[in-house]
Amino acid sequence: MKQYKVGVIGGTGMVGQRFVTLMAGHPWFQLTAIAASARSAGKTYEQAVGGRWALDVPMPEEAKQLVVLDAERDVEKIAGMVDFVFSAVDMKKEEIQALEERYAKAECPVVSNNSAHRWTPDVPMVIPEVNPEHLEVIPAQRKRLGTSRGFIAVKSNCSIQSYVPALSPLRRFGIEKVLVCTYQAISGAGKTFATWPEMVDNLIPYIGGEEEKSEREPLKVWGRVEDGVIVNADAPAITAQCLRVPVSNGHMAAAFVTFRNKPSMDEMKRLWAEYQGLPQKLALPTAPKQFLHYFEEPDRPQTRLDRELEGGMAVSVGRLRPDTQYDYKFVSLSHNTLRGAAGGAVLLAELLCAEGYIQAK
Ligand SMILES: NC(=O)c1ccc[n+]([C@@H]2O[C@H](COP(=O)([O-])OP(=O)(O)OC[C@H]3O[C@@H](n4cnc5c(N)ncnc54)[C@H](OP(=O)(O)O)[C@@H]3O)[C@@H](O)[C@H]2O)c1
Repeated sequence: MKQYKVGVIGGTGMVGQRFVTLMAGHPWFQLTAIAASARSAGKTYEQAVGGRWALDVPMPEEAKQLVVLDAERDVEKIAGMVDFVFSAVDMKKEEIQALEERYAKAECPVVSNNSAHRWTPDVPMVIPEVNPEHLEVIPAQRKRLGTSRGFIAVKSNCSIQSYVPALSPLRRFGIEKVLVCTYQAISGAGKTFATWPEMVDNLIPYIGGEEEKSEREPLKVWGRVEDGVIVNADAPAITAQCLRVPVSNGHMAAAFVTFRNKPSMDEMKRLWAEYQGLPQKLALPTAPKQFLHYFEEPDRPQTRLDRELEGGMAVSVGRLRPDTQYDYKFVSLSHNTLRGAAGGAVLLAELLCAEGYIQAK
């Protein structure tokens, strides 16, 4: 397989650190540039991150001495150095939209962890196992941007990546309505217990904007490509409550679902066990071998025991049972900074390379 030179913009932040770590030893991707704000530019990566290293694995040696570039000032320079960038900057939405478009227009593909472009109609929002066909909008987006290589692709919000994978193979039964409660880790807010001690022994029943994302984003992911844009699915109706819980990593969802043609529990478990997406068929380096793992034990999946399954890229499901108001209920778990953030974006980048949308220069 070809080698690709990769930049990480916002590389000093919590998600950026995950990208930098996932590049170490990646068989296709070579970390070539790291960029962040003007505050970090000119320092080595090690100096710029300082005491902010938030991961439980050490900073990769090859990253430590890279000199951090200025993500806003050095767009052309970075675009000339790399084959594509991951974006994990934390700025105002309009600023992120403008910055990511500057990279795309400089002919540098952008694989973004940010929400800024999720509702741009010709920007694909992809969970690689679920809607890889949405990459077909990229030629239309390139036409709009006036580019030949550059484009933007995004991943979805981390909260939906626990229950949307489990619901996706069940769509053939006509999902009519879904109720979901999510129990979300503090790393989703870019925090650790050291930086957010108020979360120890606490639960906050509010995550700004999360419920709207959890209800709306699945409809784009389940949408279809039509005339160069993504047209949202018009069903199911989804209602969500999202809670912040005292967990370092791992978003758990409790989902309730009603179908037009109700399947049996055995059929649902069989479809979960058999679910193979394009990443599994292409054997992409970051793809879990088994995307959905069903646990028969009544007390699984558990966040601490199961979030790291298959490198944090598999989704765990359990407790499927009939409900009194809906047809069924179940729980599902995914690692929010791996599958839900940087890992999901790395898998998307692998898919874009394998399908020829990103090419090595
Ligand atoms: N944490 C999660 O699990 C998670 C999950 C999904 C999505 N997200 C989203 O991902 C993004 C990054 O989150 P995070 O938790 O990693 O944030 P973070 O730890 O605060 O890191 C922010 C990054 O953005 C850079 N930055 C800030 N202002 C900038 C500017 N004006 N120009 C260029 N770079 C700038 C920072 O550089 P300096 O170090 O130089 O300040 C840093 O590298 C956010 O949009 C967040 O909403 C986070």
